[in-house]
Amino acid sequence: MDRVRIGVLASGRGSNFQSIAEAIRKGAIHADIAVLVCNVPGAGAIDRAQDLGVPFVVIDHAPYGKDREAFERAVEAEMKKHDVGLVVLAGFMRILSPYFLRQFPHRILNIHPSLLPAFPGAHGIRDALAHGAKVTGLTIHLADESLDGGPIVLQKAVSVHEGDSEEKLAARVLEWEHVMYPLAVKLFVEGRIKVEGRRVHVDWSGIERPPVP
Ligand code: GRF
Repeated sequence: MDRVRIGVLASGRGSNFQSIAEAIRKGAIHADIAVLVCNVPGAGAIDRAQDLGVPFVVIDHAPYGKDREAFERAVEAEMKKHDVGLVVLAGFMRILSPYFLRQFPHRILNIHPSLLPAFPGAHGIRDALAHGAKVTGLTIHLADESLDGGPIVLQKAVSVHEGDSEEKLAARVLEWEHVMYPLAVKLFVEGRIKVEGRRVHVDWSGIERPPVP
């Protein structure tokens, strides 16, 4: 079977991108990151791509102004040029339009730092703390036209501790992101994910499941 070619989209630090790239390097995921597209010049993800030897392109969204589709066409062209079969959103801070989503149906993964559908949006950790949640976590889902609302692939619960700051809680969640996102990518590239409406069925045969919660 051909190795899946992954296109990663990132806007920031890029630690999730790195965790997936390292899992591939270790042989845990039989796929290749064909390209990293970063929409923020100078973002940490670009340095990481350089260090990891992953091809990267910077497509700054700013010059496109309000023309979201024109920006997305540029991103799409990069993905198609690299024959990408799976798009991984790794801290990508732009909302994708239906146009882009239609190009990769059920082939776009996103990670969000809360147990969706609780606390969607840009501040999943902050909102969980402000709400007084005792348990939060992370969700990996397929992207659709809703904001953080697509079919859920994996979730991991993480306890909120007394006296947690946003930074402390985010760091604890992030540790699990780095375990769970590579796992979700592995499940996808091995064809273990089946989508049925909102429900995603995962074939876990022969794979160690992460601890619950
Ligand atoms: C992560 O917390 C992820 O859940 C959210 O954005 C953050 C990205 O971090 N979508 P990084 O850029 O992968 O380090």
